[in-house]
Amino acid sequence: MTHVRAVIPDDFELPVEAFDIPLCYQGDLSGVVIPEGLVRDRVRRLAKDINAEIGNKPIALLCVLKGSYKFFTALVEELTNARSACTEPMTVDFIRVKSYEDQSSTGQIQIMGLSNLDELKGKSVLVVDDISDTGRTLAKLLTTLKETGVEKTWTALLLSKRVKRVVDVPEDFVAFEIPDKFIVGYGLDYNQKFRDLGHICVMSPSGIEKYKTH
Ligand code: IMP
Ligand code: MG
Repeated sequence: MTHVRAVIPDDFELPVEAFDIPLCYQGDLSGVVIPEGLVRDRVRRLAKDINAEIGNKPIALLCVLKGSYKFFTALVEELTNARSACTEPMTVDFIRVKSYEDQSSTGQIQIMGLSNLDELKGKSVLVVDDISDTGRTLAKLLTTLKETGVEKTWTALLLSKRVKRVVDVPEDFVAFEIPDKFIVGYGLDYNQKFRDLGHICVMSPSGIEKYKTH
């Protein structure tokens, strides 16, 4: 089965004023790249694709916190529907990975919550992450899972950035391919802000300045 990604063109941005944006973030955004409703539609189909490919076997879904918390919740819900005829259960696990400061990858990746990983030994794991940019985070995580003794891994990504990867990683299920822009919303942050914003947006220069750490 071929998986078709929803490709967002380079210049595609909808006016922020056309959407319901929390007051605290008004002025901090310059455009909506993917409205929340579109994410929901796409996640529904992605869950069907995942189920068609993986089929009726026990599967562990691994949520890579914090960025994928919204995507994970939506995907688990849709997968539960898609798997209604399955006899093998699905389990959920959580791990925290940190690599970004301001708008760039620090190159250092911290994986937290490792003690839980032993529970994944011998299992088939679907790694659910928010976005692939340089590919470093996912590559490091997949290596760690292999070392832990995980039997099989797939990756499900909300977003895949149209950039040359520093490290090549398998992207098995991708909801959207997006241009090389720093984006926030639907779980993705800028110095911990904007995770609660529903739509996936591009920040305005004043928003970037306002929440800068350095
Ligand atoms: P990578 O290791 O460069 O592939 O980056 C992966 C991680 O960096 C993601 O899981 C995100 O947490 C974060 N990240 C990458 N691009 C963005 C972005 O545009 N906005 C917010 N976070 C991002
Ligand atoms: Mg992440």
